[in-house]
Amino acid sequence: MQKIEILIGSPRKRGNTFSLAEMLIQNLDKEKTISDTTYLYDFEIKPCNDCRACKKGKMECVIDDDMKEICQRLENSDIIIIGTPIYWFGPSAKTKLMLDRFRPYFANKKLAGKMASLLLPSGTGKPDCDLTIEMFKRSFEALGIKYIGAVTAKAFDIGEAGKDKNAIASIVELSAQIN
Ligand SMILES: Cc1cc2nc3c(=O)[nH]c(=O)nc-3n(C[C@H](O)[C@H](O)[C@H](O)COP(=O)(O)O)c2cc1C
Repeated sequence: MQKIEILIGSPRKRGNTFSLAEMLIQNLDKEKTISDTTYLYDFEIKPCNDCRACKKGKMECVIDDDMKEICQRLENSDIIIIGTPIYWFGPSAKTKLMLDRFRPYFANKKLAGKMASLLLPSGTGKPDCDLTIEMFKRSFEALGIKYIGAVTAKAFDIGEAGKDKNAIASIVELSAQIN
């Protein structure tokens, strides 16, 4: 069984990021995969303050908040799917808060060997996703995570991601890689 952890970094619970996640889940082989969804906006994620505690000793973060639970979910998974709307050519602030808190993983390499993909809706679609894709690609590389591609969707109002034919085709491709 492949364990898939899907992280939703949109404050709109039934928004386009959610729709892409739902489409992916529908395409996954239920006999080979088990998926779990985490809504980042339901969790308290404090900013990394560069205290550098994670560079010493147990190489763990000392901040007391819900990242502990998110980290458990990530460490228990085989494949990490990060879904975030594009906000100003980047990920949502909540998603970036989580990414910054991946700092201990740079030292302890606990996520190394896992696979990761991205679900990225934006009003403009693919052209506005390039910087976010590049940022995650390089971050995954630094963490030893294998990047398996991104799904971009041209979607502004809720419901539009499900109507983007290119996004649907990318979801089918991504699920074929996972299944
Ligand atoms: C603060 C903010 C910034 C945004 N910046 C961009 C942008 O740079 N490019 C773009 O194409 N869409 C941008 N959008 C539109 C969202 O990416 C789009 O509405 C997306 O579908 C929202 O996903 P959601 O329904 O999962 O929340 C922005 C939206 C907000 C609220």
